[in-house]
Amino acid sequence: MITCSAPGKIFLFGEHSVVYGKAAIACAIDKRVSATLVPCSSVKIKIAGQYKPVNPKKNPYVAGAIYEMNKIAELPGFCIDINSELPSGAGLGSSSAVTVATIKSLDVLADTKLSLKEIAEMSHKIETNVQGKASPTDTFVSTFGGSVKIPEKVHIDFFDAKIVIGNTGKFASTTNLVSDVYELMSKHPDSVNCIMDAMDRVSRDGEIEIQKKDYKKIGELMNINQGLLNSIGVSTVQLENLIWAARNSGAYGAKLTGAGGGGCMIALCDENNIQKVVNAIKKAGGDPFVCNTTKEGVRVDKNNVNPE
Ligand code: PMV
Repeated sequence: MITCSAPGKIFLFGEHSVVYGKAAIACAIDKRVSATLVPCSSVKIKIAGQYKPVNPKKNPYVAGAIYEMNKIAELPGFCIDINSELPSGAGLGSSSAVTVATIKSLDVLADTKLSLKEIAEMSHKIETNVQGKASPTDTFVSTFGGSVKIPEKVHIDFFDAKIVIGNTGKFASTTNLVSDVYELMSKHPDSVNCIMDAMDRVSRDGEIEIQKKDYKKIGELMNINQGLLNSIGVSTVQLENLIWAARNSGAYGAKLTGAGGGGCMIALCDENNIQKVVNAIKKAGGDPFVCNTTKEGVRVDKNNVNPE
């Protein structure tokens, strides 16, 4: 049996504008997706307790990982079981974490010894094939962990924080939201470009405040970023309700994370007001959970096939 896992992520700053080459900062979180492989006569995936053939339409990320790994290694038969601590389609990078964890487990199985850079690049290729347009943010952060600045793809000072995540429970398609923003940009190029530039500025200022560990200012910049995201139409009434509930109960700052249109919001909190923020998000109709940022990227959790 082989089990590998990879973390989800939050966007502290810069989702959407990152698609247009602007600066973004994303951090890995301590909620993970794991991929477990057991020997099998053919290739199958466990769905609702039953092993079924991998379907590229229903399991595009796992299918993509198998397809890419088949190009570089002769894979034996295996059954794969994906387990996730992350809600999917909620802005927490679950599809990237599935892709990265699957590639790593196949890498261990086939003993291909891929570097982290190769895993991140392969995962990004798969995500782009599935989604049409994808920044390398999610796949890079899920592979390497830590706090990362995009487009440079470099680690910045570790942003050590307690984050309350509030899930609206509404699934949102990243592909559709990215194309909605593209359409808005085509209709109002000058205005929308100015907003993208402002988001870039906010991300860069955010990096400086992370270096200084000034949580109050980081929170204020998150609030500014949220206003800009709202202006390009990716926030929703439910997200705004959770965001304002968190702010009004003492969070340093709150914003949506990822594509928006539903999914999750994040609130930067002090140790002392976490429970207040959790309760406020619940009262406003969200599903809250607390997480920490983490330095840990993809890892091997269990390997009794090719022990190192
Ligand atoms: O919702 P997520 O976790 O897939 O994040 C999407 C972030 C975007 O900037 C909107 C798109 C991207 O590929 O970076």
